Amino acid sequence: MKTREITVTVNGRKRTVTVEVRRTLADFLREDLGLTATHLGCEHGVCGACTVVVDGHTERSCTQLAVQADGREITTVEGLAGPDGELHPVQQALRDNHSFQCGFCTPGFVMSIYGMCEEKKAGRSVPCSRAAIREELSGNICRCTGYQSIVDGAEAALAGAGSDTGKDA
Ligand code: FES
Ligand code: FES
Repeated sequence: MKTREITVTVNGRKRTVTVEVRRTLADFLREDLGLTATHLGCEHGVCGACTVVVDGHTERSCTQLAVQADGREITTVEGLAGPDGELHPVQQALRDNHSFQCGFCTPGFVMSIYGMCEEKKAGRSVPCSRAAIREELSGNICRCTGYQSIVDGAEAALAGAGSDTGKDA
């Protein structure tokens, strides 16, 4: 088994780990670091359940290797809650809007919406209309809700994220 040492910052904590070169980032997070809130659905880049934020951008963790994350900064859904467990504003907005049912897709949606909010807070133009939110979230699949409540939650999260520099698409 071929391995390589990598250094990644995950949820603010720097870690140097020896990892199998064929290990996906998703398996690395879940199995090596024990961060099992990043879910695996399709495992080939379609469902979005494995979405994490890498260097400020949302990415699939099932379609890249852990070694590709060497030197990068990763945020998983475990990294969002406050020190006393208080929900991140994105999580709170989704909760307030009863966005999810079974919860399997939740971490991926949360990270996609969190990524949009971070882009908005950074002053970049983020589409905020409902149609644009649907388009932005089209890479995340939910089997339960019909998406209406997810868009409601995303809309609320974006409304609360920083300045109103976002522009409707
Ligand atoms: S598990 Fe990665 S996109 Fe579905
Ligand atoms: S809430 Fe069940 S898959 Fe989305």
